[in-house]
Amino acid sequence: MKTKILADKISKIAGAQVRLNEPMSSHTSLKIGGSADIFVSPRGIDSLQQVISLATADNIKYHVIGNGTNLLVSDDGVRGIVIQIKEGFNRIIRKMRREEAVIKVEAGVPLGKILKLAKDEGLSGFEFAAGIPGSIGGAVCMNASTKLGAVSDVLHSIEVFSGGKLQKFKKDELDFRYRELNIDSKTIILNAVFCMNFGNKVKIAETIDKFIEERRNAQPKGKSAGCIFKNPENRSAGKIIDELGFKGQKIGGAYVSDVHANFIMNDGTATCADFIALIRKIRKDVEEKSGIKLEYEIKFLGNM
Ligand code: EPU
Repeated sequence: MKTKILADKISKIAGAQVRLNEPMSSHTSLKIGGSADIFVSPRGIDSLQQVISLATADNIKYHVIGNGTNLLVSDDGVRGIVIQIKEGFNRIIRKMRREEAVIKVEAGVPLGKILKLAKDEGLSGFEFAAGIPGSIGGAVCMNASTKLGAVSDVLHSIEVFSGGKLQKFKKDELDFRYRELNIDSKTIILNAVFCMNFGNKVKIAETIDKFIEERRNAQPKGKSAGCIFKNPENRSAGKIIDELGFKGQKIGGAYVSDVHANFIMNDGTATCADFIALIRKIRKDVEEKSGIKLEYEIKFLGNM
């Protein structure tokens, strides 16, 4: 009852889209996860602020997600509110200067949309992100990267909601690391400003297409959350797992990809419990046999 009353308040006061008992499997690339008590899509910054103050006033926990492409959600689902930063945060604002293209991108924009803009207008700097799924908010939060570069290479500044207020940070005020932005877990990324360069349209499009093709050949299709583990320094987690013979190993509906061993796939029937069992087994084996403690790249939500 309390949940229903809060959901109604969120819908009326914050004008957000609200769903009760929403299956998280519909909001993750892994297609795994039980229901969130309340699932909310705010309409924009004001709506988000209202959702958070309503949740805080009722002492209800909230969790923020982006596009769910790097996320493993518990089979028991998520208690409290899941706030998805997506529909209400989907604008790209271009501020072209003579030599530099400055773009402000809201957190819900998919990376693919920036790559399309880069191709259409001949903007260089984002080629590294070709083929990475997910939204800008998630990509900034995790400092998404490939061998061609990282979000932190092109980022100028971010705007966030933190401690009840809006705040702006320039890149040099932020602590970016490999696949990580060191910020408070309650800080919500609202938008990011990137500085790109004008370049040769044809060359930029070629680089993007070639890189997408390379990824297609080296990484599996299907239901996954991308790489499960971060790479240890100067090593590939995929190669380490592969060398231990894990490719094809299966627990329940979760299995290690034959294409790239750092990808654990859902065959369509996997539960979160299957995933946890398999990734713990890999981690334990890698540590026992090579002394390396693999760190998780994916994020976890709910009780595991
Ligand atoms: N390799 C194997 N077996 C495997 C996987 C890889 O032998 O099962 C070998 C490859 O043949 C290659 C080396 O390991 O010689 C490195 O492999 P790859 O080029 O695929 O790069 P990676 O280090 O495994 C990283 C990122 C990927 C990113 C690629 C390409 C991490 C954890 N992974 O993978 O990111 O796409 O480089 O830039 O940093 C992701 O985070 O979801 C992700 C896919």
